[in-house]
Amino acid sequence: MNTATQTSLDGAHVVVFGGSTGIGFATAQAAKALGAEVTLVGRTRARLDAAGSALGGAATAVADMMDRGSVEAVFAGMARVDHLVITAGSLRTGKLADTDPDVLLAALSERIAGPLYAIKAALHLMPPTGSIVLTGGQLSDRPSGNGTSVIAAAVRGVEAFARSLALELQPIRVNVVSPGYVDTPLFDAFGAEGRAAILEQAARALPGGRIGRADELGDAIVFLLRNAYVNAEVLHIDGGGRFV
Ligand SMILES: NC(=O)c1ccc[n+]([C@@H]2O[C@H](COP(=O)([O-])OP(=O)(O)OC[C@H]3O[C@@H](n4cnc5c(N)ncnc54)[C@H](OP(=O)(O)O)[C@@H]3O)[C@@H](O)[C@H]2O)c1
Repeated sequence: MNTATQTSLDGAHVVVFGGSTGIGFATAQAAKALGAEVTLVGRTRARLDAAGSALGGAATAVADMMDRGSVEAVFAGMARVDHLVITAGSLRTGKLADTDPDVLLAALSERIAGPLYAIKAALHLMPPTGSIVLTGGQLSDRPSGNGTSVIAAAVRGVEAFARSLALELQPIRVNVVSPGYVDTPLFDAFGAEGRAAILEQAARALPGGRIGRADELGDAIVFLLRNAYVNAEVLHIDGGGRFV
């Protein structure tokens, strides 16, 4: 069913960069449940295979947002991309005083340049009813002081990037989901104890006393794909965390 405001995902092709785990995987799961065909993209073959199996079958492709050629190659041979979702991103943190600026700047490559390559390569495959969802984050509104200054700049930039693209690429819609703390493998880089400490502290500070689940973000992204009147929007799914 395609009405003025509700776009069916039945038979739609949804490409998810970052689809092997966390928010991207949950998005693929929710889209598939609504009849979409999904293609999962990430850097690690084993994770993609596990995710594809967990979905009961999905196309997969290995690519790194930092590598233009690999991002473009994802779309080779594709006939159509109805929706492009980019949740790919890692925690490239470090305080400026003791980190090489080029290491920090990689966050811009991953979150701005990578999506730029992907969108450029996908555009000719997208119908006028298509849409793009990029991923921002709570750091855009709420700085941490914990070595995330360039990620904060990147996610703030993602919001401005998406708003401008929404005008430039019309009628293709471009939106951003901005997560607060969500329970995903993103925090595994801090080790089991570090991960638990970060997430427990975050949960205590939130009005609801808990952090978010990946499926709650997947549900929000699918809303952005389906509602044809939502455009140039930044949808905060953060349990109210940006105000505490
Ligand atoms: N979880 C949170 O609390 C939270 C909060 C705010 C914002 N976010 C943002 O939400 C997005 C999704 O995070 P998540 O929590 O779902 O994390 P996640 O579970 O670690 O998922 C990240 C996904 O992106 C892929 N990926 C990472 N770097 C990539 C790259 N350079 N090129 C291609 N694929 C890449 C990962 O697979 P491979 O590692 O195998 O490539 C994985 O599929 C990220 O941008 C994150 O910064 C998350």
